[in-house]
Amino acid sequence: MTGRLNGKRIIITGAVANIGKEAAMSFVAEGACVVIGDRDESAGMAAAKELGDAVRFLKVDVSDEASVSALIEEGAEWLGGLDVLAQNAGVQFSGNIVDFDVARWDALFGVNVRAHFLGAKHAIPHLKASGKGSIINTSSLAGKRGGPGLAAYSASKGAVIAFTTALALELAPDNIRVNAICPGWVDTAFNRPAIDFMGGQSAQEAKIAALVPLGRQASSAEIAPLFVYLASDESSYMTAQSIGIDGGVYNS
Ligand SMILES: NC(=O)c1ccc[n+]([C@@H]2O[C@H](COP(=O)([O-])OP(=O)(O)OC[C@H]3O[C@@H](n4cnc5c(N)ncnc54)[C@H](O)[C@@H]3O)[C@@H](O)[C@H]2O)c1
Repeated sequence: MTGRLNGKRIIITGAVANIGKEAAMSFVAEGACVVIGDRDESAGMAAAKELGDAVRFLKVDVSDEASVSALIEEGAEWLGGLDVLAQNAGVQFSGNIVDFDVARWDALFGVNVRAHFLGAKHAIPHLKASGKGSIINTSSLAGKRGGPGLAAYSASKGAVIAFTTALALELAPDNIRVNAICPGWVDTAFNRPAIDFMGGQSAQEAKIAALVPLGRQASSAEIAPLFVYLASDESSYMTAQSIGIDGGVYNS
């Protein structure tokens, strides 16, 4: 690794496993200090221990304002400031809309949408104090192109794209960049609800073979480099983008 993030102070949510953990590992490997925020305390403590002294875990419920505020304030204090907020926590609930509970819809939007607003709201004063910053949001291919059973999830991830664009324009005068990452199928247990809705693992494999030009799912490690790029000064002229990393699906 080449120190591309030397001195960067980063808070990342949803980073105790899979995509977020790979991103946190890559941040540390490139020289950053990282605070991981997640609701899963035992996995979070284990991840922080595994990643070493440059990492601290703080428990958070990203859908709750007091909890997000505490994460950002305590995180920025431990880091000595804040350069990057990476918002990766998310949930997926699948199902036909006629059967979809209002409470499930609200819970989905609480984690996938309200959390992005809350994180940005509380991080912006710290990023402004740093003189520049990067907010990395996590959307999805589903936010650009939906599928059966995914209407609620797609709506939540589409909201992240719209929020990203508008916030980027609002914060450009402060030299704070805002971008979203839009992964396609990534091989994690996160997709279990969608796979069950499709009819199981073999139905998912058939769909991926038919749909994905590269013919396979991504690994979490294939998503992490985009987090590093957006966190680093290499992306200093990139803002208001929702970047697909989907094996070619969106443009196929
Ligand atoms: N796996 C995929 O195919 C895929 C595709 C596109 C986008 N994504 C997005 O990538 C992100 C990470 O997904 P993943 O596949 O690594 O799954 P994951 O389940 O490992 O990651 C989600 C994380 O969010 C945390 N989380 C959930 N609700 C929370 C809350 N209220 N407060 C705090 N933390 C909370 C979970 O504990 C978990 O660590 C998600 O935002 C997801 O929507 C995933």
